[in-house]
Amino acid sequence: MKASAVAPANIAFIKYWGKIDEELRLPANGSISMNLDKCLTTTTVEFDKRYAEDSFEMIEEVVKEKEIERVKRYLSKLRKIAGKEIYAKVLSQNTFPKSSGIASSASGFAALLLAASKALGLNFGEKELTILARIGSGSACRSIPSGFVEWKFGKTNEQSYAYSLYPENYWDLRDILAIVGTDKKKVPTTEGMESSKNTSIFYKVRVIEAHKLLKKMKSAFKMKDFRILGEIIETDAIYMHCVMMSTSPALFYWTPKTLEIIKNIIQWREEGFESYFTIDAGPNVHIICEGKNEQKIIDKLKKIENIESIIVNKPAKGAHLINKHLF
Ligand code: PMV
Repeated sequence: MKASAVAPANIAFIKYWGKIDEELRLPANGSISMNLDKCLTTTTVEFDKRYAEDSFEMIEEVVKEKEIERVKRYLSKLRKIAGKEIYAKVLSQNTFPKSSGIASSASGFAALLLAASKALGLNFGEKELTILARIGSGSACRSIPSGFVEWKFGKTNEQSYAYSLYPENYWDLRDILAIVGTDKKKVPTTEGMESSKNTSIFYKVRVIEAHKLLKKMKSAFKMKDFRILGEIIETDAIYMHCVMMSTSPALFYWTPKTLEIIKNIIQWREEGFESYFTIDAGPNVHIICEGKNEQKIIDKLKKIENIESIIVNKPAKGAHLINKHLF
């Protein structure tokens, strides 16, 4: 049977960097994110007896052998749950550049799980879906529920799931994404996290702080206090990058352009245009602002030279099935 799904990427306001269980991908701290309406993955999965093995391709993108193997391993897990010995053809399409610090694995595994489980006739509830997506790629669990999402810290498989903290229309926020480099990441997140855990002297202290920041952020959400929210977003991003930079070998994801944009954002704030930055495992800068300031921030950003492209994201609904198939 054939099924298709769309899932958004998400930007973490409280980041996930490190696990307490590698196999189950249980994070060392809970995280909070916003789904991105312009960074989507669409995936069609067809299980059929005529396929002798699983295949995975992306439209207009070359997929590495390692990535194909990861998808195949994931499909095998789902096949085992369904109790079916049948192979699949998987085709995906992204609306954004892959492996550039935009969590393509998040939207990718969320869309894959939803389409594959439907095609296999499995009917999971949202909580179960988030747990299964987490096993594919940690941050993927945050792309299943809608809007603003918390992925809970938990010591067992069942305890670490994601849920919608608030729907997408709760707060009119923007993630204005300044793309400054689309080169593939040199160190994948799974390896980077493990390496940080083993070598960064700041790893443990950041985990403790992340738990505290997450609590504070939830109250900023409740009060819709943008200044407090933004300050926590920046603090958490800086802490994560301190851990990355103090890893051995060092993980420097920033480029001079990244820092130039950060400095501009701080300057804009002094001028009264409130926005805050966050950065994932790549050089691109996510500028978080309120909807009312969107145009002003874009105008200012456009004055900075050599920004490859700008993607303006609103909060989005989570992964969902669609009727239009890619093949
Ligand atoms: O789930 P992964 O392997 O894509 O890791 C995501 C790591 C960060 O994007 C850097 C942080 C986060 O919480 O999204």
